Amino acid sequence: MSHQIPPRPAVLNTPYDQHGAPNFAELSALGWQPSEVLDFSVNSNPFGTFPALQHAIADIDISRYPDRDCLALRDALAQHRSTDGQVIEPEQLIITNGTAELIALIAAVYLTSADTVLVCGPTFGEYARACRLQGATVNMLTADRATNFGFDLNDMHNALVATRTKICFICNPNNPTGQVIPHGALLKLAQAHPHTLFVIDEAYANFVPKLDRFTRVDCRNILAMCSMTKDVAIAGIRLGYGLGHSEIIQALSLARTPWSVNSIAQTLGVMALQHWKPIAAQLETLQAYKTTLMTALRQQGWDVVSSNTNYFLVNVSDASACRSFLMARKLQVRDCASFGLPSYIRVATRLPQDNQKLIAALAEYKRTLS
Ligand SMILES: Cc1ncc(COP(=O)(O)O)c(C=O)c1O
Repeated sequence: MSHQIPPRPAVLNTPYDQHGAPNFAELSALGWQPSEVLDFSVNSNPFGTFPALQHAIADIDISRYPDRDCLALRDALAQHRSTDGQVIEPEQLIITNGTAELIALIAAVYLTSADTVLVCGPTFGEYARACRLQGATVNMLTADRATNFGFDLNDMHNALVATRTKICFICNPNNPTGQVIPHGALLKLAQAHPHTLFVIDEAYANFVPKLDRFTRVDCRNILAMCSMTKDVAIAGIRLGYGLGHSEIIQALSLARTPWSVNSIAQTLGVMALQHWKPIAAQLETLQAYKTTLMTALRQQGWDVVSSNTNYFLVNVSDASACRSFLMARKLQVRDCASFGLPSYIRVATRLPQDNQKLIAALAEYKRTLS
């Protein structure tokens, strides 16, 4: 298409990325409502939004602008994330309209077309997309099945040495593989490369029991990204935050869209922290459901990749065909072709009665292959 007013070439050359979750156009073509489909393609807390949060929405005054500095939520998060060894201050936090907004903000603040970034994959596609939209060069370091898709720290180090890398994106635990890099190893890597900003995406950290979180706000080259949409099950509201050195937070704050975090998101964020214990208990229970689901699929003969999170990869040979088969039965899984894994689907654990439906459908699919 020729444009009367040409957008930047980087914009025209960067395609929109694929994601899980309902595709409303696809559902509309099928004449289905999103609620009719059991969604295993999105890695959210399947217990749903905590009732107190759902009920609170009616009382929120949406006639006013929200606090553009998100002070109450930053205060509450600072307390929530402080540990015995590390006090977090509100100045070390930035709240965003989901971590999706934060990823775009990081790229906009730090990158020009002269910069190079390293993305450790296969992983969430928005890191590369956000960087490409700024015209930056994206180098990928790709792990494979031989290591359960785990990263080799030496390979990461060598890739960083080979080019002057402005930002290194590491998803920890990784989406879609569920692999975790130990905190100490990441810290060592970041300390060895002080001129690279290490963006550690911890969107799914609360789904991994007892995972060490990044709270090293003393490091001037590490930013942790955290999502509240998945663990708190408020994906429709959008809420995420960055935690890092105040110098990084200040730079990001300069470029942010004012009022991007609405009043409902801010209020529910504070409430979620007040109800954190039962939410954390749900996430712990989910681990047991995941083990049962993985075991059942392995017993059917599927190659199921070990994972630390609530979601995991299954090699089904042709992910697109498998997704279509399941979708016809109103079960949605993530076809991982866009991650560069066309033979894998990603399955997010749901509640046991839902998981049983997927187990039965995949058994039926397996029979069609033999
Ligand atoms: C690894 C990862 N990071 C960030 C996001 C964005 O999350 P949100 O914008 O809902 O916080 C996603 C969403 O799927 C994700 O998988």
